Amino acid sequence: MRHLVTGAGSGIGAALTRRLHERGDELVLLARSEERAAELRTACAGATVLVADLARPEAVESLALPERLDSVVHAAGIVELGPVAELSVDDWATQLRVNLVAPAALTRVALPALRAARGTVVFVNSSAGLTAHPRWAAYAASKHGLRALADSLRGEEAATGVRVSTVFPGRTATPMQEKVHEQEGKEYDAGQWIRPETVADTILHLLDLPRDATVPEVVVRPA
Ligand SMILES: NC(=O)c1ccc[n+]([C@@H]2O[C@H](COP(=O)([O-])OP(=O)(O)OC[C@H]3O[C@@H](n4cnc5c(N)ncnc54)[C@H](OP(=O)(O)O)[C@@H]3O)[C@@H](O)[C@H]2O)c1
Repeated sequence: MRHLVTGAGSGIGAALTRRLHERGDELVLLARSEERAAELRTACAGATVLVADLARPEAVESLALPERLDSVVHAAGIVELGPVAELSVDDWATQLRVNLVAPAALTRVALPALRAARGTVVFVNSSAGLTAHPRWAAYAASKHGLRALADSLRGEEAATGVRVSTVFPGRTATPMQEKVHEQEGKEYDAGQWIRPETVADTILHLLDLPRDATVPEVVVRPA
């Protein structure tokens, strides 16, 4: 199988990429920078690594994608907490661009290849995509939007055989969660949270699902 993964250099995306690489699947990885791309080429021998800064979603339009993709996994994302009274236009716009507009643009660009393989699109959402708490407005809005994108796409592509799944992880022990703790002024203990490998295995299940079923949404919470 051939997969396109964003956010492959860290956290959940990195855990998924390791799993796929270990079992010999073909990888097309999207990195934010040349530096990260070089790391990924070393870690995942044989992978195609493309560079696009998703804060500029138009950058995905010139990507050279393969003709067939069994999946596109949107794992890249950013978070910036703050009350509405303080969030800047840039805080809003950057989170919306990376977490929502870029996945939409990349999905559009990848759709011919996904249709050719009757592939699966997986959006890594968040529990913040289901409930918006104080100080999470911009991130939660981007993730609520991401759910809407997935729901529309699922209906639009049903006839083409492209399946669309959203995964809603709760707090997961990654660099993003460390940053969230910093912004919340809380001490970070990775052992309290979901392991990124557990979320990766959930995604893997969606990618390997037999053709008789589709899983529109999965919620994964810390136990
Ligand atoms: N951690 C959690 O508690 C949690 C919970 C629910 C949902 N999520 C979601 O899970 C997904 C993965 O998050 P994570 O926790 O694994 O975070 P992470 O460790 O910070 O990884 C985020 C990835 O996104 C990439 N990225 C960020 N901005 C980018 C940009 N402008 N262009 C291209 N790539 C960019 C990063 O690239 P670099 O490698 O260059 O840094 C990194 O590879 C995100 O969508 C996040 O919202 C996380």
